[in-house]
Amino acid sequence: MANKENKVKLSVSKFLRIVPERLKRIKNAPDDEVRPLRSYKPNALAAILHPNVQHVKVAEVRRLNGDVTLYSLEPDNVAGTQLLAPFQAGQYICVSVTVGGRRYSRPYSLCSSPSEAPRRYEIAVKKTAGGVVSGYIHDTFSVGTSLDVSAPDGQFTYDPNRDAKDVIALAGGVGITPVRSMIKDLQNSGDDRTITLLYGCRRPGDALFRDEFDAIDDPRIRIAYVYSEEAPEGCEKGFITAELIKKYARSDVYSVFVCGPQNMYRAIGSETAKLGLRRKFVREDAYGQITEPQKEPDYVPADRREYSLTVIAYDKTVSITVPCDVSLLSSMERAGIYAPSKCRSGECGFCHSRLVSGVCYTPEKCDRRRAADKTYGYIHPCCAFPRSDVVIEVGCKIGNG
Ligand code: FES
Repeated sequence: MANKENKVKLSVSKFLRIVPERLKRIKNAPDDEVRPLRSYKPNALAAILHPNVQHVKVAEVRRLNGDVTLYSLEPDNVAGTQLLAPFQAGQYICVSVTVGGRRYSRPYSLCSSPSEAPRRYEIAVKKTAGGVVSGYIHDTFSVGTSLDVSAPDGQFTYDPNRDAKDVIALAGGVGITPVRSMIKDLQNSGDDRTITLLYGCRRPGDALFRDEFDAIDDPRIRIAYVYSEEAPEGCEKGFITAELIKKYARSDVYSVFVCGPQNMYRAIGSETAKLGLRRKFVREDAYGQITEPQKEPDYVPADRREYSLTVIAYDKTVSITVPCDVSLLSSMERAGIYAPSKCRSGECGFCHSRLVSGVCYTPEKCDRRRAADKTYGYIHPCCAFPRSDVVIEVGCKIGNG
């Protein structure tokens, strides 16, 4: 085993001998004023690649169908953002808004080409029933609206070292957004890889970007529409199945990328399992917020409808009553506690909080905690549902900050 070698390399006594030398150098250092940290090249580069916040303005609004609207965002120079951070096709940004005095953040996949990133992002927002943030965006965003977004994030990206050259993208409804970005990215590259898109919707009017997709003339990109209710000639009728995936596969070795609504993930998992692909060749986008945990196969019922949640933050401690089948993160937001979050599906770890006491249910499919987090009692409140009275410690202040 390599442990012996590591012990030599990580010798504590050797490490401790560094300390006096460091102290000596600090003591002998000149009293010159230290340059601002941002002026150092690595830090300046990090600020461009991973800004804490990006100030943007809505440059264009385009209604795609009855529920979905496309927003083009450009840097808000006056507010301090000159260029937008680069991203990889398949990543998302979080949009922050304040509604009724409460601050919310929601992830939206970038659907534009990564090559446009310094000047332009595009996101498509579906107005969902009861959706506080999507409703607010639809009702209030217009050309000129200023807002803050996060740096791009997410793992749903193509990696030539891991993924096959032939990709079959399975998209449902507004889940087409990251795939549109991947298609644009491929169009702009000279890569010899391919994308075959199976786009599932109820009916033709629901398919987004159809005119744009139909105009693509590139042998590397093939698109098939799968309609569950009415299918015109040349389209598939029904749902995306293993047989359909095999029918459109260009070779025996391909990666499947899946992005769609919750019910699509529930249905497609058993279909992709039939394909016998290596695990690394089945990629799923972050599942999105789990709003109906009772539909998960490993659901753990609660013995009460409500529990108490005590949140220990930097500045104070607050107790609230929370429903059993609403995630701790959503319950905190509803109570005006703005806890850190990004993906809201267990993937990014940004909401990572210590479970001081109590029991939570986390659906297995979104439990992406590291082994150490499980061992030392950390949870992801975005996909943790209380199963007893719970006390957690979060890395934020209570309130809008
Ligand atoms: S917000 Fe990403 S893991 Fe919770």
